[in-house]
Amino acid sequence: MNISIRPLAYADYARINTIDVATQKQYLGDDAWGKMTESEQQVRLVSRKKDFAWHLACGFCFVAVAESIVSGFIYAYEIPNTHKVYIEYIAVVPSMQKMGIGQKLFAALRVQCRKNHIRSIWSLINTDNTRSLKFHQRAGCVLRPRIEAEYLL
Ligand SMILES: CC(C)(COP(=O)(O)OP(=O)(O)OC[C@H]1O[C@@H](n2cnc3c(N)ncnc32)[C@H](O)[C@@H]1OP(=O)(O)O)[C@@H](O)C(=O)NCCC(=O)NCCS
Repeated sequence: MNISIRPLAYADYARINTIDVATQKQYLGDDAWGKMTESEQQVRLVSRKKDFAWHLACGFCFVAVAESIVSGFIYAYEIPNTHKVYIEYIAVVPSMQKMGIGQKLFAALRVQCRKNHIRSIWSLINTDNTRSLKFHQRAGCVLRPRIEAEYLL
């Protein structure tokens, strides 16, 4: 299958949103997703429309195109003054996972980071997301466990 990677484009919004929702359902299960309110779902999605222009402009977001259809995306951005790029989310449509698309997206991000003198790429991964943990390890990331602290108001 012919898979190409290109920068995120204005016309990609609807497809990005579809893949975002599909991978959230895959992770949480259709039932759990269906029981959430719309605002709870919105909090989980990275493809909020109001943030799309910002992602378009930041220069570190890419899509994978397979047989003319956008099949995956990586949303990443530079953290100011750190020379670090943070992967906000990487997702491949469930029916096309395990075909190397995710690694191609990650490779494109690496190239862009090198061009921009970025020194590291980092990401936060839920410990129960074994597929993603394995994916990042295969991509060459060092995995370090952390404790998350949250103050609820
Ligand atoms: C994590 C994710 C992006 C990985 O994308 P992917 O396209 O499935 O990843 P790849 O195909 O590049 O690599 C995954 C596996 O496929 C294998 N693979 C690569 N090319 C292959 C091919 N041509 N044929 C068969 N397998 C292949 C890789 O070796 C790897 O195998 P492994 O399981 O032994 O490590 C994807 O699983 C996903 O969208 N998950 C849901 C969203 C998510 O959790 N995102 C991360 C948030 S932190």
